[in-house]
This record gives sequence, C-alpha cells and structure tokens, in this order.
Amino acid sequence: MNFPLLAAPAPLLLPDGGAAAGAWTLDESSVHINHGSFGAVPRVTQELQNALRAEMDAAPVAWFPALPSLVREARTRIAAFLDVDVDRTALVPNASAGASVVYSSLPVTRGLEIVVTDHGYGAVTMGAERLARRWGGTVRTAHIPLGATASEAHDAIVVEFSDRTALVVIDQITSPTARVLPVGSISAEAKRRGIPVLVDAAHVPGLYASPMDGIDCDFWVGNLHKFACAPRGTAALVARGDLADELYPLVDSWGAPYPYPDRFDTQGTLDQTSYLATPRSLDFIEETWGWDAARRYLSELADYAEHRIADAFGAVTGDDHLVDVGMPVNALRLVRLPAGIATTHPSADALRDRVVSELGVEGAFTSFDGIGYFRLSTHVYNTPTDFDIFAERCVPALLEWAREATSAP
Ligand SMILES: Cc1ncc(COP(=O)(O)O)c(C=O)c1O
Repeated sequence: MNFPLLAAPAPLLLPDGGAAAGAWTLDESSVHINHGSFGAVPRVTQELQNALRAEMDAAPVAWFPALPSLVREARTRIAAFLDVDVDRTALVPNASAGASVVYSSLPVTRGLEIVVTDHGYGAVTMGAERLARRWGGTVRTAHIPLGATASEAHDAIVVEFSDRTALVVIDQITSPTARVLPVGSISAEAKRRGIPVLVDAAHVPGLYASPMDGIDCDFWVGNLHKFACAPRGTAALVARGDLADELYPLVDSWGAPYPYPDRFDTQGTLDQTSYLATPRSLDFIEETWGWDAARRYLSELADYAEHRIADAFGAVTGDDHLVDVGMPVNALRLVRLPAGIATTHPSADALRDRVVSELGVEGAFTSFDGIGYFRLSTHVYNTPTDFDIFAERCVPALLEWAREATSAP
C-alpha cells in the first residue's frame, strides 16, 4: 500500500549555515535516529562539562565544599525550564534513580498494592515489584490497548484501584509504545481517593513547554539527558504534597538534616558536573532555534519519518504499517515491523544491536503484545535524509530478516 508522502520539512541549520548536526559530536559514519534512548549532548555542553571537571580536578578542596550551592543554582535554572517550583524540585542522576528514591522513601504499608501499566518501563516496573515484595503486597497491572483513547486508558487504569492501593506508577510518555497516557485525569482520580501517584516522565523534559500543567501528582520524574540534551546523569524529581518531605536521596549524606529538596544537593564525593552543565544545553537550543520552533520541527520531521518508513514497508507487504497509538507523541513514533521480528523485549534489543552493527543505523526497536515495532525519534540534528536512509537501507534488510524468521523450520 502506498501512502501519500508528507512534505519533508527543511532541515534546521546553525547560524553559520551549516547543518545542525555540526553542533553535536555524533559519528558521521552512522545514522542516529534514536535520541529517545540515551540522548545526545551538544559539543558546547560537553566542552563546559569538561572544563568543570578540569576545575574539580585542579582544586578538589575548593570544589566540593562549594558544590551544593552550584547544584542549587543549576536546579533553579532547570526548574524554570520545566516551569515548576524550584522548592519542589530535586536533582537525581536519572529517571530510574528518581523512581528508586520514591520506592525507598515511602512509609512501609504491609500488604498493600501498587498499580502499574503494561506500557511501563521494565526497570521502573521491576522496582515497583521489589517494593511490593518488601511490603508483602502485590502489583496490579492495568492492561491498556495500544490505541486506547484518553478516556479508555483512564478507565483501564482506574478499574485497578482498590482500598488497598498504596501507589500508582504511570508513564506520561511510554517507552515501548511511544504514546501519552492521561496522567492528569489519573492523578486527579487518585488524589480524590487519597492514593499517591508517581509519574514516570523520563522522555518528557524538552518535549513540552510546561510539562506538569494540569498534572497534580505527588511525584514526577523526568530526564534532562533525553530530549533536553543535558549531559547523561541529569534528571529532575518534582514532589508535591505531604509525602515530599519523606523523600531522601539514595546516597545518605550531609544534607540529611535539611528539608526536601535541599537535602538532595549534597551527595558525598560525586561528580555532579552533569547537573552544572545542563543549563548550557537549555540555552544553546533556545538561543540557536528557540525551543518552540525546535519542538515544531521535531513533530513535522516525525510526521514525515513515520509515513516515509511505513510507506517503504507497505510498498512490499501491501499492509498498513502506520500505528494508531491513541495519544501520539510529537518526537517519538512507532512503525509496525513485518511479522516475526522483535516480538519480545530481548529479541527487539537483539534487532537493535544487529541494525547498528550490520547497517550502521542507531535506532530503537520495541515489542508490545507480541508485535514488533521500529520506534523512531527526531531531534534538531536529524534531517529527512536520516529517515530516507532507514527506508532505503534498513527496510529491505528487515523484510528479509522477517522472511527468514517466519520461514525458519
Ligand atoms: C519511560 C521510561 N522510564 C524510565 C527510563 C529510564 O531512564 P534512565 O535510564 O535515564 O534512568 C526510561 C529510559 O528510556 C524510560 O523510557
């Protein structure tokens, strides 16, 4: 089946007229269309972080006592970027750590239940399962059809709430299915019933201007090192309500007597230059293109990319490879793979590794309900050509590998 191709947006350029990718240090011999997994850091931010590390290494005794106040400055800037209150915002190394902080800090409530969804990030869900074991309780998993509307997804989650529910863990943007979940309405319903909610917003910072608008949850954690292009090891944990002051960093340190979130600014002898360099990435994108214009580009490029790739598959299979995810994301999209590949999480990861090594393309593959998907990401350094290359180089190989998988005895 051939889909009418959407017009390709004009690539973003640097002020000197060069390609946007020139501001990053990604290997030019491969194609990077998986910003969503591990991010990518602009050169100017890497340079600042390297300079900060040099300062730390030159005079550690001057560096470390001054560090908590520098961390506070960085989180003030990060909170302003996220449009959240700095006095509710702590910095943690990553979204996994933010979830672990919540899991390890909540008061022990024996026999209680945690509600998660089948779109959750595996590592965060495993943390919830471990907490439930420690509580002698259970995890209830809400099953949400891939294409569920906001109200269908809301109902599928709320139906799992009971008098025993002590925590709800829900993604604002899901990892395997690249969709939005209605975290605002879920948080409102949970609040009405007195149930705390942890929103896993790992992908969210950078993708929305005020990402917590309309979300009255107890805990929210988002990675700055994904779409906000911060150095790896930078995430914001926002906690509101009575439970906020229960939260302690995973590393017990000298900040312990201070209230939340100040106690998170002190973390022993740790390299926190990732936090300090983060504002450089936020400023770089704002000064070069403006975040609003960047977000528009990400969305237009993702529209082009998903149609281009689905069209390439469909031209051979005759099927529709576009995916209805109910509540789509601007810069992350799914394209359905031919049957037989990436049908499980381990086989999707193995496919990702094979595509890197044999085809020179850094992408992401996911599986949901036994079906494999290519999950594409867009960022300012990507161009339509990146996705044309995927369509021309990877689609034929994936079709061949799927044929081999389905014809194997
Ligand atoms: C929804 C979701 N939660 C959590 C994480 C974990 O992020 P990190 O590895 O930075 O802790 C990811 C990573 O992709 C994610 O997609």
